[in-house]
Amino acid sequence: MAKLKVEDLKRIKESMKGTVNLRQGDYRVKITVHMGTCGIAAGARTLMSALLEKLEKSGATDIILTSSGCAGLCNHEPMITVEVKEAAPVKYVKLDPDKVDRIFDEHVIGGHPVAEYALSVGSETTY
Ligand code: FES
Repeated sequence: MAKLKVEDLKRIKESMKGTVNLRQGDYRVKITVHMGTCGIAAGARTLMSALLEKLEKSGATDIILTSSGCAGLCNHEPMITVEVKEAAPVKYVKLDPDKVDRIFDEHVIGGHPVAEYALSVGSETTY
């Protein structure tokens, strides 16, 4: 399991600044990495690092990357939830960096959910 480095924490801090934009409704996509104990044990930190890298490379300013606690589904970890504005949120399960890479390209950027990695659609929103 990859360890978070100081640089990763700095990037998380920068990405968290976007949370203010979320409250103001000024974003297009919110990605939540579920980082409860079970998520971290299953590799959620690796997903967060992969997403930080994708987000940086994309140069997008309308995407928020954040974390949450346990989603209550240990056996499906590591998980993320992707919320595209005006669309139902999608919870993705049993992920790895390659799957996250595809989700970022196809869903976050392209707007098309990756059904084969999704557990559920429309279960919850944070807005
Ligand atoms: S820590 Fe995830 S279900 Fe208990």
